[in-house]
Amino acid sequence: MLNKPVTNHNVDHLENELISVRRHLHQHPELAYEEVQTTAFLKEKLLAAGIRILDVPLKTGLIAEVSGNPDGPIVAIRADIDALPVQEETGLSYQSKVPGKMHACGHDFHTAVILGAAYLLKKEEQQLPGTVRILFQPAEESSHGAETVLASGGLDDVQAIFGEHNTPQLEVGELGTRVGALTAAVDRFEIELEGKGTHAAAPENGRDPIVAASHLINLLQTIVSRNTSPLDAALVSVTQLTSGNTWNVIPTKAYLQGTVRTLSDETRAFIPERMKRITESVGEGLGIQVTFKWLPGPPATKNDPQWTALAERVAKETGYRFIEIPPTLGGEDFAYYQTKIPGAFVNIGTGSSYNHHHPKFTIDEKAIVPASRYFSKLAVRALEHLSSNQ
Ligand code: NI
Repeated sequence: MLNKPVTNHNVDHLENELISVRRHLHQHPELAYEEVQTTAFLKEKLLAAGIRILDVPLKTGLIAEVSGNPDGPIVAIRADIDALPVQEETGLSYQSKVPGKMHACGHDFHTAVILGAAYLLKKEEQQLPGTVRILFQPAEESSHGAETVLASGGLDDVQAIFGEHNTPQLEVGELGTRVGALTAAVDRFEIELEGKGTHAAAPENGRDPIVAASHLINLLQTIVSRNTSPLDAALVSVTQLTSGNTWNVIPTKAYLQGTVRTLSDETRAFIPERMKRITESVGEGLGIQVTFKWLPGPPATKNDPQWTALAERVAKETGYRFIEIPPTLGGEDFAYYQTKIPGAFVNIGTGSSYNHHHPKFTIDEKAIVPASRYFSKLAVRALEHLSSNQ
């Protein structure tokens, strides 16, 4: 019975349990690929609730499942579980016990929410028309945790996947998303310039990599202003420039690195080609040897129109105020799943005054239980939708 009224006693019990889970995780943050205690803690909680854990080769993180019909469709809901190298300054009674580490992106919230959804789905397990995989993903902050999960094979047969991020800019009770890209492709570049060092008083005897780097930085800025459409969001930022070590020597080498953010596949493919050509032409013009390296990160999230529509319907059904939100140029490795499995990623309002990664970042714990109810309902509705189409 999906719509069985939940008594206040049950709501309070679930809320207390999930708040205590979230506070435990908050006090014991672990960085990407080091989530050993977090994984052990979640295993214990899931097993105590009688929830199966899949035997997949993941060193940290895990995949659990509840199923009312093993022959039915399979959907997945996902939380990320890793923390950040940030020294917490919230002054909360349950602040991090680990110096220099903090759940400053609220992945402790995501984990508590999805664990709560697992508890709720477990109660309805016999009525489920298929299987729900419950994914606790490691290493989102490394940008590669999702690839590790995909490589484990634990999602091979999943037909739809849903994930979340908390959003301080939305109030508790608000939920937002959009069709298509919600977060950007996050790529990195490195450029090495090698000229010829010389006495600062005799530049004619050398080839100056600093002058070349200066031209290059300016020219790279013309890609977004002159080569891409003003209506197609993209960003090229040089964030590091190093060269030289004193005042009277023209150095031999310079090094640049930075990031490119894009929302469309075409622009993502176009920008590095253009960067490489500009870099090579500056090198050729100024007699500098150049090396251009492109280090791809996660693609842009691609929210499927059909599953995003379901995410919106279920938001309204579970009492959220739904908001269609604009994309950001931040990244989210959930996007890797969407290259293989259609799905939707949503932002849940947590009404905090500090932004992600800030030492005073926190979330309003009142947002936990509604989000758990949302994800359990979303999984059920997705299974119903898939079974009616089978
Ligand atoms: Ni995050």
